[in-house]
Amino acid sequence: MIKFPDDFLWGAAASAPQTEGHSLLNGKSATTWDKWFEMNPEKFNQDQGPKDTSNTYEMYPEDVKNMKRIGMNSYRTSISWARLLPDGKTLNPEAVTFYRNYFQDMLDHGIEPIINLFHFDMPWWLMEKGGWENRESVTDFAYYAKTAFEQFGDLIHKWTTFNEPIVHIECGYLLGFHYPAIVDMKKAIQVGYHTLMAHVLAVQEFRKSQVKGKIGIILNVLPAYSRSDNPEDLQAKKNSDLLNTRSFLDPAVWGKVPDDLVALLKDNQLLPVVESGDKKLIHENTVDFIGINYYQPTRVQAPTNPSHPAQMPDDLYAPYDWPDKKINPYRGWEIYPQALYDIAIMMRDQYKNIPWYVSENGMGVADESRFKNNQGMIEDDYRIDFIKEHLEQLHKGMEAGSNCFGYHMWTFVDCWSWLNGYRNRYGFYSVDLDNDFKRTVKKSGLWFKQMTAQNGF
Ligand code: BG6
Repeated sequence: MIKFPDDFLWGAAASAPQTEGHSLLNGKSATTWDKWFEMNPEKFNQDQGPKDTSNTYEMYPEDVKNMKRIGMNSYRTSISWARLLPDGKTLNPEAVTFYRNYFQDMLDHGIEPIINLFHFDMPWWLMEKGGWENRESVTDFAYYAKTAFEQFGDLIHKWTTFNEPIVHIECGYLLGFHYPAIVDMKKAIQVGYHTLMAHVLAVQEFRKSQVKGKIGIILNVLPAYSRSDNPEDLQAKKNSDLLNTRSFLDPAVWGKVPDDLVALLKDNQLLPVVESGDKKLIHENTVDFIGINYYQPTRVQAPTNPSHPAQMPDDLYAPYDWPDKKINPYRGWEIYPQALYDIAIMMRDQYKNIPWYVSENGMGVADESRFKNNQGMIEDDYRIDFIKEHLEQLHKGMEAGSNCFGYHMWTFVDCWSWLNGYRNRYGFYSVDLDNDFKRTVKKSGLWFKQMTAQNGF
């Protein structure tokens, strides 16, 4: 039997914009998602926009009971910046009441809330002045972070600043999946740098606030495996690590942007504008823990366009198959649990063995209602196998000494996912969009309860 420590965190993750609903109600102002949907609803899967999502705003008491029911002892979600501070300065009292009640309810049920500050939901008032392209975003974010620590610091003892910062940079400025959907590497790097500084200033606010607890950041480290041993492919793997993983992980843990990354950006005329004093701030504001989201690895090859410093979408998504490649047939993503062991060892050997947890892992399934049984329950055995295989590798990494303190699945209740709307389902509970967001536990939820009760399987 595989056994995890007694105090291991078992749970799931989601975010405010993907679950709360009431997106333009109760004092909340618009985000880029609300505005983009208003402008181009056809971009969103089946015209499913950010308005209702899974209605957690009203249904959280039921949700918290359901968390308990499947053995979760922790849950990560985010605060909506545009709900808490609709114009960036004025506190929305309804938001404070909602979040305090929600967090207190989790605590009353023995569920530790882990609270993240930014999950791709840029307030529109800030986008109108350039979003992360504008250096002012850094101080605006620090003010938001300070407000959140003041309002909820007595209830929350684990905070994170950003979820997957690489994603809003890449999707907004290289791939066209997030607003403003432009393709501009130079801007992407500047946006990345401001995101890093916003993170750093939020950590500084946290230390000043004297809130009792820990602060970290959630990163989708992209384990990169070279497609061959050719020197060009190996170099591309190194560049991919620098841009996708070390760009945030090194400053967060070591307080320093890697020299090799600076050199790579310089060689490609991509250095961002920085301010004097930034280096010191980065150095002084490192984190207490790291959250790692892991879904699939990246198989890297040398850039086909020599002017690209590392893999761009055309290389990243270039077909690459081998006989025993394992694919999630319902989402198309590679399944490679061994990467979780590699991540564990990387954290142990290259990042001071800092405490970390799996903040997201999961299996998306399109059209999942086809797996419903006669009682209306989704029999997702494929998800149970997926979790087991990943936990086995994680456990192996922990036995080798890696300091992992928890495992969270994406997600608890099926949630809305940006342009994909409700296409890919990930939850332990399904949600019925045609029936008042009715939640029904899936087989994986019942299995999770059993597994967490004995801390293993
Ligand atoms: C994660 C993000 O990387 O992937 C989530 O943090 C997102 O916000 C999830 O919903 C699933 O993505 P998709 O595209 O399969 O719906």
